Amino acid sequence: MEISSLSAIQAKAPKSLEHKFSTTIRNLFRDCTVYLDAYTVLMDATWAVEYEPDSLVKWVPTPFVVVREMLELARVCSKDIVYDLGCGDGRMLFTAVQEFGAHKAVEYEIRQDLYESSKQEIQHQNLQNQITMIKGNLLDADLSGASVIVLYLSPKANERLRPKLEDEAKPGTRIVSYDFQIDRWFPDKKVQLGEYPFSERSNTKALYMYTVP
Ligand SMILES: C[S@@+](CC[C@H](N)C(=O)[O-])C[C@H]1O[C@@H](n2cnc3c(N)ncnc32)[C@H](O)[C@@H]1O
Repeated sequence: MEISSLSAIQAKAPKSLEHKFSTTIRNLFRDCTVYLDAYTVLMDATWAVEYEPDSLVKWVPTPFVVVREMLELARVCSKDIVYDLGCGDGRMLFTAVQEFGAHKAVEYEIRQDLYESSKQEIQHQNLQNQITMIKGNLLDADLSGASVIVLYLSPKANERLRPKLEDEAKPGTRIVSYDFQIDRWFPDKKVQLGEYPFSERSNTKALYMYTVP
């Protein structure tokens, strides 16, 4: 092959390669777009099943070791009426009643599936006289009966809840929040959950304990 025709091929090669490459990339983008569209539809459907429009945060259960620490920090005893605002599977209040002997417990949950499963568990364990489960928005809760309130929400949700706590919670009510402070309030006590036996995922988290003045 003559040098001139060889260089002609070399000069051509990058162009055809470039074409092939750009076609492949274009196809890849097209495929990704299709997958992303399908993924978005799927995620939207999952969101619709799992979440209510008024949901402030998704369900992330508190590890039991932290639940017990929270209830100890709040000094829960047989005189207490403990509220969990956004109760998930109800673990905070089952523990408050069964392990700490709380007099009563009231839980609010926005998600229908969690509400139903928690309600079934209350019946199964014959705790109907002690635990009241309410399907509803925690921002509409009546907090006047609480002596202890436990929270695991988010900074924004705590911020939305703060005026309600200030208006409705009785003086002396102990409030323990896992992971998130209540803005503009000063905790009586902060417990850093950095060490064993708390899970690795808790290692930057803390508990904040407040008493309503
Ligand atoms: C982070 S989880 C904590 C669950 C439970 N308190 C625990 O510590 O294991 C927050 C819960 O609040 C519920 N939630 C979110 N927004 C709510 C609202 N506006 N009213 C009532 N419950 C809500 C969620 O469905 C979820 O179960």
